[in-house]
Amino acid sequence: MFPLLVIIAFLLIIYNYYKYLSSKPPGTPPGIVGLPIIGVYWYCLWYNYKYPYQSLGYFSKKLKSKLISCYFGPFFTVIANDYENVKEILLREEFDGKLSDSYFIKSRAFNKKLGIIFTDGEQWREQRRFALRYMRDFGFGRRHEIFEMNTMEELNILMNMLKYGPVNEDEKKICKDGLALFPEVLYPFFINNIWEIIFGYRFERSKYEKLRYFGRKGMKFIRSIDSLGGSVFFWPITCFFGNLFSFKDSMESNYAMIDFIKKYLDKYKLMHEKNGEYGFIGKYLNKLKEDNLPISFSEEYLIITILDFILPTAVTTVSLITFAIKFMIYFPNVAKKVREEIQEVVGSGRLVSWEDRNKLPYTEATIRETMRYETITPLGVIHRSTKDTIFRGYFIPNNTIMITNISEINNDPDFWGDPENFRPERFLKDDGQLNKDLSIPFGAGHRLCAGETFARFTIFQVFAAFMQNFDFSFVEGQPTKIEDKYPGIVITPMENWIRLNPYS
Ligand SMILES: *[C@@H]1O[C@H](CO)[C@@H](O)[C@H](O)[C@H]1NC(C)=O
Ligand SMILES: *[C@@H]1O[C@H](CO)[C@@H](O)[C@H](O)[C@H]1NC(C)=O
Repeated sequence: MFPLLVIIAFLLIIYNYYKYLSSKPPGTPPGIVGLPIIGVYWYCLWYNYKYPYQSLGYFSKKLKSKLISCYFGPFFTVIANDYENVKEILLREEFDGKLSDSYFIKSRAFNKKLGIIFTDGEQWREQRRFALRYMRDFGFGRRHEIFEMNTMEELNILMNMLKYGPVNEDEKKICKDGLALFPEVLYPFFINNIWEIIFGYRFERSKYEKLRYFGRKGMKFIRSIDSLGGSVFFWPITCFFGNLFSFKDSMESNYAMIDFIKKYLDKYKLMHEKNGEYGFIGKYLNKLKEDNLPISFSEEYLIITILDFILPTAVTTVSLITFAIKFMIYFPNVAKKVREEIQEVVGSGRLVSWEDRNKLPYTEATIRETMRYETITPLGVIHRSTKDTIFRGYFIPNNTIMITNISEINNDPDFWGDPENFRPERFLKDDGQLNKDLSIPFGAGHRLCAGETFARFTIFQVFAAFMQNFDFSFVEGQPTKIEDKYPGIVITPMENWIRLNPYS
C-alpha cells in the first residue's frame, strides 16, 4: 500500500511540474517559475518559514515589477506591491471574490460556503447587508447612547480590576501584584461589546473566564494559519497529515468557537420564545420564520456569520492594544505626549469617552502609527478575480488569486519618508490636527472590514484609558522585544506580563 502511494505521489509531482512550467497564461504580469504541488509556496517557506509572505518582496525587486504573478498550488496568483495597485485592486468589483471554494474555508464552516469573510457573490452581499442593517440598531458602526454607556461600564470594570486587584478567583490568573497578562486581560472588554450587539446582553464579570476561553481559541486558530493561508489553502491534501501543517489545531479551535456560539444560541432560543427580541440574532431568527426566505438564510449561516464578527474583533483589537502598550514602553517620548494631551483635555476625574476622540488628535495619531508600524494583517484577506479582465495592461484570468501587500504600503519609503521610525506626527498637520489618513489597515472598497468604525472607537477608548491611568514597564523574564510575536493570518503579540503602575 505505502509504495503505491509513493509512486502515485511521485507521478502527481511530475505531472504538476510540467503543468505549472508550461501553463502561465499569456499577457499576465511578470512571473516566477514555481515548484510543483504548492508552487512558489516552497520558495516562501524556504526563505522564511515563520513569515512565508515576507519572501515575495524579493521577487518583486528581482523582476523589477510592482505587480508579479506566480502559482500557489493550482492557483494562478497576482501580487501587488505598491499603493496604487493595491488600492485599485481593492476598489475594483471584479476582484471582490474570495477563496470560497477552498477546502480549508469550507472545512471551517460545516463543509459549506457560509459566513461573510471568506464568501462572495450574491449570498455574501445578501448576508452582509442584512447583518449590518440590523447590527446598526444595536450600536455597531454608529453612535448609540445605551451601547456607549454599557461600553463605558465595561471599561470601568477593566480599569478597576487593574487598579484595585482581582475580585474573582480566575482573575488572579491574569492580574496580580500590579502585573497584568496581555492580551488575555483584554478579551472580556472587546468580546463582551460585540456580544451585546449580537446577543443583546453581556456576560457578568464573574463569567468573564468564558470570554477569555473564546479569545484563547480565537488566537490559536489565527496563529495556526499563516498570512498566505498556509499550504492547506493551496494543497488540501496537507489537511490529512494531522497537525503537521496545523490543520488539526485550526479545526479544533474553530469548532470549539462554533460550539460556544451554538450553546448560547440554543440558550437564546429558549429565552427568546418568552422574552421577545434582543440583539441581531433576534432579527435573524425572526427572518428564518418568514415564507419566501432567500435561499442563503439558515441557522448554520447565522452561526458562521456570528463567528466572522466575533473572531476578528477578539484577536485584532487585543493584539493592537498589546502592541501599542509595548511601543509606549519603547518610545517614552511619544507616551509622554499622549499623557500630556489626555491630562490637558480630559484630566483624571473621569475616563476618556467617545466624545473626546476629536479633541485628542495626538492620541489618535499614535494609534494610527501603531497600526502602520505593526501591520497585523500583512496581506489583508486574499481576494480572487471573478472574471477575465485587464489590469494595468496585463491580462488577469477569471479565478486569479489577488494578493494585496498592505505591509509593503506601510513600509514604503516613497510614501512615508522614514517608515522605520515610530512617529505619530506623520498623521498630523502643522496645526496639530489629524490629516487625511491614507493608510488602509482595514482594507478598502466593497470588502472593507465591516467592523472598522466599531474597532476604531473601542481601540481608542481602551488605549486612552490605559494611558490615562497607568505607566507601563516590562517584567523580568517576559517577552520584551518587538519581534516577540507570532505569525498567523493575523500577526499577534506573545502572551506577556506587563507591570502597570497607577498613574496620578
Ligand atoms: C510585502 O512587503 C513586505 C514589506 O516591504 C515584504 O517584506 C514582503 O516580501 C512583501 N510580500 C509580498 C507577498 O510581496
Ligand atoms: C469565473 O469562474 C467561476 C468559477 O469557476 C464561474 O462560476 C464564473 O461563471 C466565471 N465567471 C465568468 C464571468 O466567466
